[in-house]
Amino acid sequence: MKVALLTGGGDCPGLNAVIRAVVRTIHNAGGECVGLLEGWRGAIQGNVIPLRAQETDEIIARGGTILGSSRTNPYKKPGYVGQLVENFGKLGLSALVAIGGDDTLGVASRLYEEHKLPVVGVPKTIDNDLSCTDFTFGFDTSINIVMEAVDRLRTTAESHRRVMVIETMGRHAGWIACFAGIATAADFTLIPEVEVDLDKMCEVLNQRRAAGKTYGMVIVSEGAKLPLEGMVTSAAEVDEFGHVRLGGLGNTIADLIEERTGIETRAVTLGHLQRGGPPSAYDRVLGTRLGIHAARLVIDKKFGHMVALRGLKIVSFPLAEAVGTLRTLDLEFMREAEEFYKNV
Ligand code: F6P
Repeated sequence: MKVALLTGGGDCPGLNAVIRAVVRTIHNAGGECVGLLEGWRGAIQGNVIPLRAQETDEIIARGGTILGSSRTNPYKKPGYVGQLVENFGKLGLSALVAIGGDDTLGVASRLYEEHKLPVVGVPKTIDNDLSCTDFTFGFDTSINIVMEAVDRLRTTAESHRRVMVIETMGRHAGWIACFAGIATAADFTLIPEVEVDLDKMCEVLNQRRAAGKTYGMVIVSEGAKLPLEGMVTSAAEVDEFGHVRLGGLGNTIADLIEERTGIETRAVTLGHLQRGGPPSAYDRVLGTRLGIHAARLVIDKKFGHMVALRGLKIVSFPLAEAVGTLRTLDLEFMREAEEFYKNV
């Protein structure tokens, strides 16, 4: 049994925990693993490295991915899929474990459906926006990074009697912003799922100031939608999966707050800090469990499936069922966050 692994899309803390767990479980079953470098690009180019259990044992504590990543889409250029399938045979592979978000797993699903490639998927993203799984690894680390940043920004905001706007990642789902907002007692949180209510936000900030709180903290998800100007993006170009690059909304919100309330306001975009550094204990454990179960799917030849967390259990779903539907924030969490700014 020779199993290839790849990591695609935006990196996130916990990827190395998955790699380590797959390698160990396949090793225990008498098989061997190789790593395809930089996501689907490595699969197209046949670029592999050996992955051995002894050498991957300590990577659990490392952020990012030892395999590298890219947003390469093999379906974007004619001939790439054929090349990929050919490499699979040439390398003598028995299975492929694809670790990625909706884009990477969407490709894995098509390769399984259209070419019967023996693939198994592992869901990853800091955005926590994948269907069929309660949480994705990477999310916990990222909200802890946001929490730490907000705790630090609070003291400077307080000293200067300012409003501080903190822009988080998350693309079109508000999981990171909402959870970070709850964890840091933010005065207001803006998410993509609910149209931005500028009047309400400014009213809350003004009322809090009048009630004696001399500073304010606002968390805004990069994909939140302004009622007037529409979505703000920092770049017009799209990646190979058709996604625009978001970023910059925090500055617009800060300007609007200052204009409407007269309160001095600053914005901080946390950006890729949210994906960097070592994974939290939760993400190490979740990544490890998903990796073990993905390897078991390979051993049991249950291909075309993705592992997922449901409650406390690791289960599996057909990839075709799991991909293609964005899992936006469950608004119950937002109602809980809003409890704290209903009345000042
Ligand atoms: O999907 C993960 C994510 O970090 C999003 O939250 C963010 O919008 C995007 O990736 C950034 O992508 P890149 O690393 O290509 O700039």
